[in-house]
Amino acid sequence: MDIRIYDSKGLVARHFSDYLEQFIANRNEVHIALSGGSTPQIVFEELASHKREAIDWSKVHFYWGDERCVPPTDDQSNYKMTQTYLLSQITIPANNIHRIKGEDIPKEEAERYGELLREKLPNTTGVPSFDLVILGMGEDGHTASIFPHEIGLWESDKLCEVATHPESGQKRITITGKVIDHSKEVVFLVTGIGKKEKVAEIIKHEGDFKEYPASLVAPENDNLIWFLDKEAASGL
Ligand code: 6PG
Repeated sequence: MDIRIYDSKGLVARHFSDYLEQFIANRNEVHIALSGGSTPQIVFEELASHKREAIDWSKVHFYWGDERCVPPTDDQSNYKMTQTYLLSQITIPANNIHRIKGEDIPKEEAERYGELLREKLPNTTGVPSFDLVILGMGEDGHTASIFPHEIGLWESDKLCEVATHPESGQKRITITGKVIDHSKEVVFLVTGIGKKEKVAEIIKHEGDFKEYPASLVAPENDNLIWFLDKEAASGL
């Protein structure tokens, strides 16, 4: 487990952007699953302002690890956030953007997106494999849209499932543990003092860590990197 700690959210974004530039430069075609949330938003702003020309975006295919079941024009949409802060700022072929259609019937879209992953992603192990999955972590220890009250979704034999937000009841589409753990590399982007306890429990295997979906992330080749600011890492 590779744990990288920086003084601020801004420095997490800066160093992750440098990591991503190198990751893409070393590959011909790159399939990346994005996350929603406030930390990815800062990363997207950093990529748009400092890596617009440095990265050959034509090599990159963007997917989402999860999406809220809302239209792509809704402020809750992870796609809309990505479109606003990154996709509208870079030159990337429209065919390289594979959004989850939050406006469609959740169960049907989960099926469709799973089929899309089978069609688009390399599949050497019988499971579609992203080159990189970017994850956030909620204060409750959720990741993607697998929440503690539905932790069983992690073990689903499907590639995508319909999840329910524990407070709002909002439906979400999420990739499952099978997809995350078959990816070649996984990065957690976690910042803020609110994540301190869960980060410490998960990384140190303390307390109720097994109840947090984020603790289940274990890519088969051990390529897991945590990008943390010092607040989120202050319990380590
Ligand atoms: C989402 C994200 C979610 C997010 C965490 C952390 O759709 O909201 O995919 O899993 O990563 O909630 O969000 P913050 O980075 O904003 O704390």
